[in-house]
Amino acid sequence: MSTPAIAPAVAARKKVTTLTFQQKKERGEPITMLTAYDYPTALALDQAGIDAILVGDSLGMVVLGYETTLPVTMEEMLHHARAVARGARSALLIGDMPFLSYQVSVAEAVRNAGRFLQEGGMDAVKLEGGRERAETIRAIVEAGIPVMGHLGLTPQAIHRLGGFRAQGKTAPAARRLLEDALLLEEAGCFSLVLEAVPARLAEFVSRQVSIPTIGIGAGAGTDGQVLVTHDLLGWFDRFTPRFVKQYAHLHAEMQRAFQEYIADVQTRQFPAVTHTFDMPEDEWQAFLDETA
Ligand code: KIV
Repeated sequence: MSTPAIAPAVAARKKVTTLTFQQKKERGEPITMLTAYDYPTALALDQAGIDAILVGDSLGMVVLGYETTLPVTMEEMLHHARAVARGARSALLIGDMPFLSYQVSVAEAVRNAGRFLQEGGMDAVKLEGGRERAETIRAIVEAGIPVMGHLGLTPQAIHRLGGFRAQGKTAPAARRLLEDALLLEEAGCFSLVLEAVPARLAEFVSRQVSIPTIGIGAGAGTDGQVLVTHDLLGWFDRFTPRFVKQYAHLHAEMQRAFQEYIADVQTRQFPAVTHTFDMPEDEWQAFLDETA
């Protein structure tokens, strides 16, 4: 095995909690968050020093190949949450509640949120929606489970919103989003994701609420940033939202590596002697003698 080019940024650090989130907002320190759905990605993110890992229901699109996040189930989320929890030591771990796991009844929402902590190894949950979710959020928080809200472009409502499009672009829509943010804070959310909203609105909302806001496609004025890791790594082939900065081109790099492997096998370049086991000569001779 070759030595990693970049040493882990953080050897051992304290566990990030919802309190750390709040302290970072108060100190004006940007909060970093990315998604993960498996053990190796969680390990790499945690060792790089990320503040929070979201096991997002984006899982459905970037890992499971669905067209939207709607088909993702609780069982799929928990399966991936457990893998992430095995890889991360310090980051705050947030499980994304999938479609229909919190909309049917408050009791079902509390039960499913609890499963993320009890069975999935998560520290908190995230759910989408504004004022219509306030009662549910209050009940989950009362059960002792920290909740992150999610406003703006809420992908589980894609059919109502008419597609993956920016939100809050008119004065009434901006006003409603601000009201929702204040209501979610009042309901007990420890933090809020603001997705695909105008930068000046996101900054304004971030100043109005006392809880940290985490932006995705919401400009630089939020208290933290989140991206879907597969977008950041260039690992998702179908499309890249314009608010994403790509730090690698993994899909192309994987294709190159796979093509090289196929060519090596076809031309018998692989495996070479260095990739091959041998046995002592006398054992081989004994084998041949016994077999002859
Ligand atoms: O599912 C997800 O990855 C998300 C982020 C885009 C915030 O909700």
